[in-house]
Amino acid sequence: MAFNGKVALITGAGSGMGQLAAWRLAAAGARVAALDVSEKGLAQTTAGKSNIEAYPVDVTRTEAVDEVTLRVTQELGPIDRVINAAAIMPFGRLLDQPTEQIHRLMAINYGGLVNVSKATLPGMLERGHGDFISFSSMLGQMPTLLTGAYAATKFAVSCYTEVLYHENRDRGVRFVCVCPPAVKTPLLQQAIETSWPKLLDGNPPIAPEDVLDAIETSLERGEFWCLPGKGSRLGYVMRRLMPGAVWKQVHKVEGF
Ligand SMILES: NC(=O)c1ccc[n+]([C@@H]2O[C@H](COP(=O)([O-])OP(=O)(O)OC[C@H]3O[C@@H](n4cnc5c(N)ncnc54)[C@H](O)[C@@H]3O)[C@@H](O)[C@H]2O)c1
Repeated sequence: MAFNGKVALITGAGSGMGQLAAWRLAAAGARVAALDVSEKGLAQTTAGKSNIEAYPVDVTRTEAVDEVTLRVTQELGPIDRVINAAAIMPFGRLLDQPTEQIHRLMAINYGGLVNVSKATLPGMLERGHGDFISFSSMLGQMPTLLTGAYAATKFAVSCYTEVLYHENRDRGVRFVCVCPPAVKTPLLQQAIETSWPKLLDGNPPIAPEDVLDAIETSLERGEFWCLPGKGSRLGYVMRRLMPGAVWKQVHKVEGF
């Protein structure tokens, strides 16, 4: 992956896959704008990396996202790649999950994507060049028990990104919507602290490196949907062809 002199803007860059993407792109010669609400995470991401700049921001704040994007283009240059990775993932039964938490999930996981797309995409389309990557999830394709509020945000991410792609195809910008299964990152701790679906025990988390490799492959092949991990493609097809059978299995595994 040669990214010499190019500019990448990454949300959720203070941890997990956003952080790893920042390190990889910086190693490939990019100037990286690392956006995150966690200043501690950003300090870890930028430590010892002269070509990664920290931009603390809450992606739910529309004006703040606009301001940061403007600063990034002024300070680093026009943006060549956007990676939307910021998210939270508390789980639980929908009627037990605090209402405020369900709204917060949508504001960050989906609203953040809306804000970032509005701030960054017009510039890339104008220049007829760039990569726009959204992190959805297998849960943005296949709903399961105890994950409903998070999954709803990821269905929204999948839908928004798919329509965004089709409304702007053939204009020089490559779009990828990545739908990983469980990935070994700090995000999983939020499920451990709230509600852990038994389904996750049968499917050990995959490595974040594999997800980022799969994104590069999808970009190269011009594939919009990126489905990393063994069995993801089968799950994607099963959900569409046999949703009843999938639900039957989910109920059996969770035991209710
Ligand atoms: N880890 C998994 O199992 C998994 C599976 C499928 C999809 N995903 C998706 O991949 C993406 C990256 O997840 P990860 O596993 O690296 O998570 P992570 O928890 O390691 O990183 C997420 C980052 O988002 C930041 N963030 C949260 N709220 C924010 C806000 N309001 N403004 C700005 N930043 C904010 C956090 O501070 C954190 O640094 C997410 O969109 C996630 O939903 C993760």
